[in-house]
This record gives sequence, structure tokens and C-alpha cells, in this order.
Amino acid sequence: MNRRAFVKGLSAAALLPGLQEPLGVLAQGPGEPATLGGFDPIAPTDADDLVLPPGFRYDVVLKWGDPFTPSGETFGYNNDWIGVFPLKDGEEALLAVNHEYVSLAYLGDAALYPATFQTLRGRMPTVDDYKLDVGVSTVRVRRDGATGAWVPVLSDPLNRRINARTPCRVDGPAARLLDADVVEGTFDNCAGQTTPWLTALTCEENFQDRVPEAVDAKGRFKRGGPFDLPGGHYGWVVEVDPYDPGSTPVKHTALGRFRHENVGLRAEPGLPVAGYMGDDRHGGHVWKFVSDEAYRPGDPATNRRLLSSGRLYAAHFLPGGTGEWRLLDVSTALDPNPDPLDRKPVIPRRARRLGDVYESQGAVLLDAYQAANAIGASPSGRPEELEVHPRDGTVFIAFTQWSARRGIGGSLFGEVWRIREDGGDVRATRFRWERFAVGGPADPSRAGRVFAQPDNMVFDRRGDLWLATDISSDRINEEEYRVFKNAGLFHLPVDGGSGGRLRQFASLPCEAEATGPAFAPGEQALFLSVQHPGERHGVREQAARSPRGSNWPHRRLGAPPQPAVVAIRRS
Ligand code: FEO
Ligand code: CA
Ligand code: CA
Repeated sequence: MNRRAFVKGLSAAALLPGLQEPLGVLAQGPGEPATLGGFDPIAPTDADDLVLPPGFRYDVVLKWGDPFTPSGETFGYNNDWIGVFPLKDGEEALLAVNHEYVSLAYLGDAALYPATFQTLRGRMPTVDDYKLDVGVSTVRVRRDGATGAWVPVLSDPLNRRINARTPCRVDGPAARLLDADVVEGTFDNCAGQTTPWLTALTCEENFQDRVPEAVDAKGRFKRGGPFDLPGGHYGWVVEVDPYDPGSTPVKHTALGRFRHENVGLRAEPGLPVAGYMGDDRHGGHVWKFVSDEAYRPGDPATNRRLLSSGRLYAAHFLPGGTGEWRLLDVSTALDPNPDPLDRKPVIPRRARRLGDVYESQGAVLLDAYQAANAIGASPSGRPEELEVHPRDGTVFIAFTQWSARRGIGGSLFGEVWRIREDGGDVRATRFRWERFAVGGPADPSRAGRVFAQPDNMVFDRRGDLWLATDISSDRINEEEYRVFKNAGLFHLPVDGGSGGRLRQFASLPCEAEATGPAFAPGEQALFLSVQHPGERHGVREQAARSPRGSNWPHRRLGAPPQPAVVAIRRS
């Protein structure tokens, strides 16, 4: 049977009857320990390995360059977010893995991607190679009954590469302005979200490095940049059906165009879904999308429309722990942020509303970051991941770092905030906020080191937080960041509030970032993306130069470091 014919038309509902559940329904009571939750914490280390507590081990599932699709396409570079989609009996799953970008010279001293590409493939990469090494991989994995390791099912019909060339559809209010029914590819796919209707949301983040970012009042934009593509086609949230490799990804313009880190989704039956989003830039905003239609478990046709129309808000934080959501709409009154560093659109004299600045709602959404600065959305300290707590619907925000100014969430080592909607209602236009955890080299109240530069987060079945850090390649193991050593993965109880003790679970290889933590079905294993090992100093040639450069996962001096997805389990 033709592969496409075999897989076409397979839907999540057909494969997985009864598996659709609203977020917030948990299988495990609050008193039961998470499967990986009991461990003796490790200390920070600059070892060039993925260091775990005693009694745990990791297996490499796939690394950059490994062929895995039926046609021999290879696993992309800089794996990031991991979405886990169940297949059968908890022993198999589909992983959707983002590949964010390739590590070029401006991100470190090493020009790591071209250097290692040359070593592994015998030639220098071209822009076309970059385009093939980003996007999303969908790969079937299974737990090996004999060894207990999670292994890829190579050449499985569900395995797929989406990259910067894959045709994508566009919907929502700005679709008309993109002037194309189908746009070319997706890239800068940072983090994402597994929806309860079993699709993957993959988020386009630092697209400004690849294509022009600017948009004018009419919603017009230019083609260009290293990828020579139209700038307005990128910077969106993209929905992918991982169960149908013949499906076309959809870019949802209703969720706005900015540097999307991820979507934290809250979906309760009979209510609109809310998508909470970070805009990872210095002075970026915290966002909320509220769908027009209600979430209906077991109704995939309705649920696939949820992100196509709705209202987009940006947060205005007030002193004293309150805040309001400001609507990105042509009718919204102007309230421009006063600081010239907060980039704003050209505001005509006598303009009173966003509709006096932009010609259409589509143009507002295309230029969402600047439009939000025109209505008083709070600039904040690089909001990375936002996640919804599975038990109470509160929203956690990882503000990763913002040392230049002391704005919302701004601090040298980053902070995690928690917000609660008024009345607990996703449709609320007001909220309360609190600092949940503050990064730094030491915290006397917790008698130990804490973390720096929080980024990706995941909750376990207990509702405890697992926090991955991304210490920037230009700071890691330097000056005031030296005390943290390599990036890590940390466990932080939530029920104990901000007094809960933070413990380090994993330390990443040198100059790597911890991304995409995601539990396997049943939480017997944790998938983790090891992103850009060696990004600052490249291939480690001499052990004496530790912590400079990396050879992971080969752990052999002179070997080229390669990003990889691992599965962590008890040994
Ligand atoms: Fe791609 Fe904001 O991390
Ligand atoms: Ca990230
Ligand atoms: Ca980051």
C-alpha cells in the first residue's frame, strides 16, 4: 500500500478513541509520588555530560543527522520542544520535536554548525541545508521490552520532517494580508504545546534573524534576510497533526505575530480555550488568546477551529499584584508606553484608537508586538515559556533575564511568576500576579543554590514544576554566572508555594541548553532535548580547557558535539 494512502485520513480520534481529555484531569492523587519525583539532588557541575542523580540513566533517542523517515530524511539541528502523543498501551508514542535554529558564528566563537557539518558530511553547509535542518520532526518511539530504553522506530510511516520548505496553510484575520494561500515552511520553532485534541502547536520565535520583521500600517512587509522569504509569513503559532504525515500545517494568525516561545493552553469542556504566550525579547509582552468557540472533547472538527478565531490580549501589570488584559483590537484606546526603547508604530496626530494607527485588524495582528506597546502592554523580562498548572489553572511565566532595566519580571538571573485569572475564569480581563521563584546564586531561605535563566517548564502528575534553564552562550560559566556551572533541570514543588525546596535533577553537557522536558506516558521516563552542546567554543580538543567546548554525546576528545533528544529513566 502506498504510504500516503495508508496514513492519509488517520485521525487522532480514529487511532485513540477515548483518549481526548481536558487538561486538568489527572490520573494521580496529590499524595502519590511522581514516578521520577524521588531522587537525591545533584550539585551544579561543568562536566561535559548529562549528569543525573544516582540511580538514573539516559539513552540517546535521536541526534542531529540521524536518518529516521521512510525516505531517509534526517533529524534536524538544535532540538527543542518535545510533544508526546500516545499510541498504544503507554509503550509507544509519537514525539513531535522542534528544531529551532542552527548555531552560526554570531551565537558563539565557534560557528559550530558549519564546523561540525563539515566534519560529519564532508562539505560546508548552504542556506538550503539550514532550511532542511530546522522545523519539526515527528518520530515514533517505543519502549524496548528487554532493555527498558525508549528507541526510535526508524522508517515508520508516521515519521516526518517539516522544515523551512514545507507548504503551510494560513488562517485567521491576517491571512488575507499574507497574499498567499500557502506559505513556504516554518522555522525558529522554539517551544510548543500538545493540545487536548491531540495536535502539536509549534511556535516561530526568532524569525527576525532569518527574514525582515517590520510591518507597516497597512500590514505590508518585505521579502529578504538570509532566507530570502516574505517576513510576514513567519512569527506565528503553527498547528500540526502529528498522526497524519500527509497533513498541511496551519499558521493561526489570530494568535498574533511576535517572537512566540510557546502556548500554555487551558481547555475546559464547554468553555473557550485560553492560550497563554510569551514573546521572548527584551521588553516583550505576556499574551492571552481566548477562542470564540468552546472546547468540546471528542469533537475534533470543532476543536481544530478553536485557534482560528478569537480575541488576543496583552498583559498590563499593575503594582501591588494586580493586572489587566488589554485587547489587541482596532477599537482599543491608545495608551503608548512612554519609553522610546519600547518600539511602537508611527502614531498619527489625533489618533485615539488602534484603528487610527493600523488599517485593519489583520495589520494589528501582523504587528502585534508594536501594537501592544501602543496600548500600554507591559514590557517585561524576556517572557519565555508560559504553562498552565494542571490542577488550578494558574499560569506560570518564566521571565528568563533582563538586566538592562528593572521592568516587569526583570532581573539578572530570571524569575518565575504565577498569575491567577479573576474568578478563575479564562475569559477574565483582570488577574492577580505573584513572584513564585526568583533566580540567583544563593537563596538563604532555601539553604542552597538556585537557578539562572528559567526557560522551559513542565508539570508532573503531582502538579510539581520541572524547570529547565538556558544560560546564554555568551554568559555560561563566565563571571557572575560561573557559580551555576552548566544549564540544568530542576524540580520545584508547587503545593509548598514559594517556600518549596528546589532540587537539581540534571546538569547538561557544556554550553548546552536544557529544552523540551516532557514525560513519557505513565511518567516512567522523561524526554529531554539537549540543545547546542559546545555552542560557545565548539569541539573540545583538550580536557584541560573544561568547561570550554563539548564532545557530547560522544564523550571523546575531538568528537563533534551534536544536539540530541534523550530519554531519562531509572537504571
Ligand atoms: Fe528559543 Fe526563547 O527560547
Ligand atoms: Ca526556549
Ligand atoms: Ca532561552
